[in-house]
Amino acid sequence: MPDILITEDITGEPVDELAKQFDVVRRGDLWRIPEELKSTVRDFRALIIRNQTQVTQAVVEAGARLEVIARAGVGLDNVDVQAASHAGVPVVFAPEQNSISVAELTLGLMLSLARKIPGADRSTKAGGWERKLYTGVELYGKTLGVFGLGRIGYRTAVRAKAFGMDVVAHDDYIHPDSVATSELRARLVTVDELLQSSDFVSCHLPLTDETRGFFDYDRLCQMKPSAFFVNTSRGEVVREADLIRALTEERLAGAALDVREEEPPQANALAGMENVILTPHIAAFAREGQQRVLASVCADVDAVLRGAHPKNVASV
Ligand code: MLT
Repeated sequence: MPDILITEDITGEPVDELAKQFDVVRRGDLWRIPEELKSTVRDFRALIIRNQTQVTQAVVEAGARLEVIARAGVGLDNVDVQAASHAGVPVVFAPEQNSISVAELTLGLMLSLARKIPGADRSTKAGGWERKLYTGVELYGKTLGVFGLGRIGYRTAVRAKAFGMDVVAHDDYIHPDSVATSELRARLVTVDELLQSSDFVSCHLPLTDETRGFFDYDRLCQMKPSAFFVNTSRGEVVREADLIRALTEERLAGAALDVREEEPPQANALAGMENVILTPHIAAFAREGQQRVLASVCADVDAVLRGAHPKNVASV
């Protein structure tokens, strides 16, 4: 009987090491075929996924031999953790291993928006030399509003501080006296205050029933017309049609989206907007971050399959 099923394009040394000890089956296409996923998973002791495989209750129930589900990343919105825990199957994940990678891309997107780097690059490569057109703004002295001051939001804020930004944050689960807020000297504010006072709004909210569609037209219109919106968390927290409308009406200055309502996305007006930057959910895709993520989840899979305790288990 095989041991480990991998249903997405997940490769690297930690996986190769696992394959020396266990029988690993790599089916990078299986996330696209839910019915086949169900019939295949029943033979395996471990399932390794990233964010594309939907591990529903039906998948968990089909995996009668499963001893562990490993999510190579932090977001758990594609895994029914409750069903897994009900079935006695631990879900291991990488709660912070890619957070530096994501924070760095977030800063990259903020700088790209502020200094219009993608447009200037396109124009110059096309033979232009438009210096005045590509006048931007500094991050220095501006206010960054962070939605979700967890590991990624915190690291983003630390880096923003190094640029001389002020930080305000909204997080329903953090105490005003927490290490994160006191070390950052960040003020915890209401949703409305954050939107109204920030020059850059960065979203680091997980996708839950409460956060789905959180950034709708009304909320986006509370932002300053000069402010920029950045999302490196989950696409579904933003109503894309509302964002398009708000941008078209110049209710905010621009947006950078690494994540989309649908992935891969259908073509829409965002792609034609000069003040919008789109990237294909690559925030966590820095070599070091991926290495840490894979090393962590593969170690936890190895531990479970040998009867030891995994380090990072998701709780319901
Ligand atoms: C994550 O949840 O860790 C990131 O979105 C990246 C990923 O899913 O691969």
